[in-house]
Amino acid sequence: MDGVVTKFLEGRVSILRDDITVLNVDAIVNAANESLLGGGGVDGAIHRAAGPELLEACRSLGGAKTGDAKITPGFALEAAYVIHAVGPVWHGGDHGEAELLRGCYVRALELASRHDVRRIAFPCISTGVYGYPIEPAAEIAQQAVRHWLEHEAGIEQVVFCCFSDHDLETYCRVASRVLS
Ligand code: APR
Repeated sequence: MDGVVTKFLEGRVSILRDDITVLNVDAIVNAANESLLGGGGVDGAIHRAAGPELLEACRSLGGAKTGDAKITPGFALEAAYVIHAVGPVWHGGDHGEAELLRGCYVRALELASRHDVRRIAFPCISTGVYGYPIEPAAEIAQQAVRHWLEHEAGIEQVVFCCFSDHDLETYCRVASRVLS
């Protein structure tokens, strides 16, 4: 980890800046596309770190719809699982993007719970190539996680893994409203 870890919700939520592939958690969430057959960004990083078996496992999943997520083993990763979430492409905000993005977080948490995951790390889904503005995306991510942690048992630690100082600052600013 790059060092600074900011904690919220009695320590159950952490926000940090790091490469998600090196985190010591039970599951990391991938920002995938509907094919689930890899790509650039965090998708590329996760496939590189997990090794070729990850792509083989994804081939048998038959893709996933935007707003949905599917789970595979983590193979060479520290994490036991990769949860492949397909975030929406940003088209200005009036094409159901918010609900689709929220769905990614809820589906990922459901899958994590079903696999006895205790510690899960999320990237900033859809905020890279898919163009979702970071602040509303952070709000949606944190509200979905807060609601889950307040109503469901099982998951003990959620890590929001940012990949830039700007995203880290934004996530922490939003968290001071949403997670405090
Ligand atoms: N660890 C953590 N976060 C990362 C890493 C990494 N190693 N690499 C990139 N990121 C961050 C980006 O900086 C961004 O904040 O992940 C966030 C999501 O960006 P993208 O990876 O571009 O994903 P997304 O915007 O959801 O677009 C998905 O991109 O890579 C393709 O196959 C993928 O078609 C899909 C699309």
